[in-house]
Amino acid sequence: MKAVSFESVCFSYPASLRDKPSKRVFDGLALTLEPGRVYVMSGPNGCGKSTFARLMSGILRPDSGRIMIGGNDSAWMGLPDIGKHIGLVMQNPSRQLIMQKPVDEIAFGLIHRGMQKEAAMNVAKAALRDYGLAQTADTPAQKLSKGEQVRLAMASLAVLEPDWLVLDESLSSLDGASRGRVLEKVARLVRHGGGALIVSHSKDLAYELGAVRILMEKGGVGVVV
Ligand SMILES: Nc1ncnc2c1ncn2[C@@H]1O[C@H](COP(=O)(O)OP(=O)(O)OP(=O)(O)O)[C@@H](O)[C@H]1O
Ligand SMILES: [Mg+2]
Repeated sequence: MKAVSFESVCFSYPASLRDKPSKRVFDGLALTLEPGRVYVMSGPNGCGKSTFARLMSGILRPDSGRIMIGGNDSAWMGLPDIGKHIGLVMQNPSRQLIMQKPVDEIAFGLIHRGMQKEAAMNVAKAALRDYGLAQTADTPAQKLSKGEQVRLAMASLAVLEPDWLVLDESLSSLDGASRGRVLEKVARLVRHGGGALIVSHSKDLAYELGAVRILMEKGGVGVVV
């Protein structure tokens, strides 16, 4: 499994058309995430946690510096390649759900990777059950509750078996049972040598999971404790 290393990463959002100045989020961020561990990232609103998650998963790219995945510079990797290693559940998961039916959402990535449709649908149906979504099979994805959307996004990523799962504030919208279900999947991934980065404001979560804490400060300094 692959370590992920941010090396002197600088990133700014470009100035907007509505005269908002460009926003420097990271200025030389250096941070290494080792596989086989859970990391819990916390920090004040707007300090860059979601930006970190988007950079790690390749949706955003650094202005300078490198993000290494298992020793390879991700600058040379396309999104599908990065997706083999890192799966991101976004802070607003409805944005990443593209299919109408939950089962098709889970099957989509498998079919895209070359699995036969019938086999993919069978895996997808099993994943729906596994993530407690069997009753929602006929509900349009955009009509699911946020907690259900989180689990659907996570199931769609998990069937592709990435090395890393990144959950951007995904736990706060889950009830006790589904939170337990999601954390059990995270623990299983880590037992198998993968890694997880969970963005969460909860101070207790890191203790609960025996996780490494990353405290992100404004100005993009990540302190690992
Ligand atoms: N698409 C964007 N365009 C311009 N600026 C952005 C964009 N997204 C985020 N920002 C700005 O970049 C900074 C970091 O934002 P980010 O969403 O990464 O913070 P965060 O730590 O995830 O915050 P929160 O706890 O509220 O989720 C903030 O100042 C934010 O306003
Ligand atoms: Mg955020």
